Amino acid sequence: MVTQILPIDENSLALAKEIILNGGVVAFPTETVYGLAANAYDGKAVESIFKIKGRPNDNPLIVHLHRDYDISSLVSAQPQYSKLLAEAFLPGPLTMVYKSKKSVSSAVSCGMDTLAVRIPSHSGAQKFLKYVNLPLAAPSANVSKHVSPVSAEHVFDDLNGKIPLILDGGKCSGGIESTVLDCTGNVPCILRSGLVTREMVAAVVGECDEYVMKDGERVRSPGMKYKHYSPRCQTVLFDYNDREKAYALYREKQNKGVRVALLCDSQVARGCDCSCILNLGETEREIACNLYDKLREGETFADIIIAVAPLKQDGIMVGVMNRLRKACG
Ligand code: TXA
Ligand code: MG
Repeated sequence: MVTQILPIDENSLALAKEIILNGGVVAFPTETVYGLAANAYDGKAVESIFKIKGRPNDNPLIVHLHRDYDISSLVSAQPQYSKLLAEAFLPGPLTMVYKSKKSVSSAVSCGMDTLAVRIPSHSGAQKFLKYVNLPLAAPSANVSKHVSPVSAEHVFDDLNGKIPLILDGGKCSGGIESTVLDCTGNVPCILRSGLVTREMVAAVVGECDEYVMKDGERVRSPGMKYKHYSPRCQTVLFDYNDREKAYALYREKQNKGVRVALLCDSQVARGCDCSCILNLGETEREIACNLYDKLREGETFADIIIAVAPLKQDGIMVGVMNRLRKACG
């Protein structure tokens, strides 16, 4: 199969719609990462997403909607707090989990009785969703367990020959996957951290829990139990306070002729003398935005990426650190 990369215009949208209506998949940009979309009503199409990615078949997908889509056709109960959160953060990088009406294919939620719903803010995503006018099930458009894609080229690197079309909407501005928020209980509960933080949710509705899996418990968000986001080279992570150890390892590897890169934010970069640095930037927004891009850059030339955690670890950095730990096994 030939994989086309096309800018988002009338022609590519018409082609994308035709592919989706015929049970195919299309990669598209969002403000977080690129997604791989199929018609959520079409069980076969949804199943093909799992095959193409090599995704475990117990890890449910998020349904993506345009901003005017009537969500009440998909989910049964929407607590009052979820309406306030939708008003505050949507369209945007927040996925909300509700009780499902089971109108979409059961393959989307892997048989669970809930449905994760997301209204992305990326203008290209909105155009695509509006044009197709269907709920589209979409995971991140990477091969399972690899780093999520934040550009059309990243999608191409992973899925060339396996999908017909990548809609190119440029580099994603957010850089890490959406916050997944369970809205089935009395209090919203974060299942996956992201750009909409626990503090931001609590500021709107008063309180917000964060899910921590207890021993022996059945995991509430199956994606959390899998190794994720790993580059194709060795990756190790050092705490900010252990950064001298990271530099020592860097020198040791370099002296042995191993191709090594240091992944860190600008503050850490200024204080070290390593020559090959994958610089994540200064602010927490920049760091999130550059994380996957730099991990993918590093794997193209390095045998080992040595990461140093930023000093600041609250707010958006909770989500960034969660990804960094998973990337480093
Ligand atoms: O930013 C994003 O969310 C991107 C873009 C493409 O929208 N999508 C994304 O999808 O990251 P994916 O499939 O890589 O991650 C979906 C996460 C998984 O951790 C999955 O377990 C969780 O959402 N999830 C999906 N449906 C769920 C449900 N019904 N209950 C609990 N967790 C759910
Ligand atoms: Mg993913």
